[in-house]
Amino acid sequence: MPKVPRLERYKGLVFGSWNSDVTSLTDYLGDFAWYLDPFLARSPLGMEVLSPPHRWRTRCNWKVGALNFVGDSQHVLTTHTGPLTLDPVRAARAGFATAAENSFQVSTDQGHGCTLTYLAPGLPAEAYQTHPPALEALYTSITSSQREMLRNLRVIVGTIFPNLSFIETQVGPAQKAVIMRQWNPISGTEMEVLSWVLAEREASAEYKADVLRKGIHNFGAAGVFEQDDVELWASATLASNNPIAARYPYSFHTALPYLHNAEADSKWPGRVYRPADTEVAQFEFMRQWSRLMNVAV
Ligand SMILES: [Fe+2]
Repeated sequence: MPKVPRLERYKGLVFGSWNSDVTSLTDYLGDFAWYLDPFLARSPLGMEVLSPPHRWRTRCNWKVGALNFVGDSQHVLTTHTGPLTLDPVRAARAGFATAAENSFQVSTDQGHGCTLTYLAPGLPAEAYQTHPPALEALYTSITSSQREMLRNLRVIVGTIFPNLSFIETQVGPAQKAVIMRQWNPISGTEMEVLSWVLAEREASAEYKADVLRKGIHNFGAAGVFEQDDVELWASATLASNNPIAARYPYSFHTALPYLHNAEADSKWPGRVYRPADTEVAQFEFMRQWSRLMNVAV
């Protein structure tokens, strides 16, 4: 086996590089580490991977998954109408219909990005208890501003450039699943997906089993949300890879007007954009990819 010349760890994640002169992992993650910590190491014992990863292949370019997790807020209400219709009460309580105005998108150096969608006002009181109170009381390994970031957070999706993503989403009343994703390119039109479900080590065995089951139900290979997405990701890959599409440039009209409008003096790290459904983070991801690959977007 060839030895990986550069190996570094960050809160349970292991990163390797074939380039021994590559920048340090701390510098590479930069401001984005602040957004990772609350989902990797918020309680004293940290997070536990609840099962081996689900692996599957899909006929989709790997960047589509990475870009979706940078924060494709716009697709949720159309792509996922099916699961939302199946469970309208949960959807309403989760505040799916309206994102709060304090929701935002983040882009940081190196092409990392994430989108944080907060619960809208006016929901039943129990909707705002997003994490189990007993576990929330253990979130002492993160700063008070990171705890503030978690408050009333319905969902966060993010991508560490290039191909590692995560989501924390509501899977039940006061119940959240953290899911990590790796998008492995097989070819320009096919990728392998690895998907892990995580929960706090301190959680009960019953809670972990429930979160694992619901995490797979939503985001496993046959998950109710995953199937919606993959159908479109494969179609987008197919549609992009034809002579007619090649004649036209991609439209970045939901990114470009916001590109130079990062929030001044934001209390959150990185460059912060509102509304949360701009596509600046996706644009910056593609810009970083094009820089490294020396191709025009
Ligand atoms: Fe989706």
